[in-house]
Amino acid sequence: MPVKSAVFAFVAAAIVFSSSAAIAQDAAKGEQIFKQCMTCHRIGPDAKNLVGPVLTGVIGRQSGTAPGFAYSTLNKSAGENGLVWSDDLIMQYLPDPNAFLKKFLTDKGKPELAVGSTKMAFKLTDEQQRKDVIAYINKFSEKK
Ligand code: HEC
Repeated sequence: MPVKSAVFAFVAAAIVFSSSAAIAQDAAKGEQIFKQCMTCHRIGPDAKNLVGPVLTGVIGRQSGTAPGFAYSTLNKSAGENGLVWSDDLIMQYLPDPNAFLKKFLTDKGKPELAVGSTKMAFKLTDEQQRKDVIAYINKFSEKK
């Protein structure tokens, strides 16, 4: 094998290994944790908006765009300024949704939009619980 492709194969293997080791998510545990989210959210093929927007397909979806849901300006503006939900971003969002959205807009050079508050009045701080619940949410999103 030429040196270049050997190096590439090594790096690729290292990335795959480190991401799976770092994530160690458990979707079954996540389903239990998601019960807390169900006070406000539904997920799955027949899910409907409730107090919160439908979370089916949320990974890879622009923030603030579930059809028919009346979002806060803050949540919507973040999406209009480039926030597309990924595992990583939901990880950062859950411990303090309000602070996350404001920081996102401020970092995008839009501090004037980082005002008001999100309607998501819930925080999930525990790191393992966040990882597990995201693994569960992923089962209902096409994009990983
Ligand atoms: C007390 C009700 C409530 C609970 C509990 C709750 N949420 Fe929310 N969530 C909301 C509301 C309301 C919004 C819309 C926020 C807005 O418009 O500012 C939202 C928005 C979101 C969004 C952004 C969606 C989008 O389309 O941009 C995600 C992601 C999310 N919630 C995940 C979760 C997860 C995961 C849990 C459980 C760990 C959870 N939420 C628990 C009420 C809740």
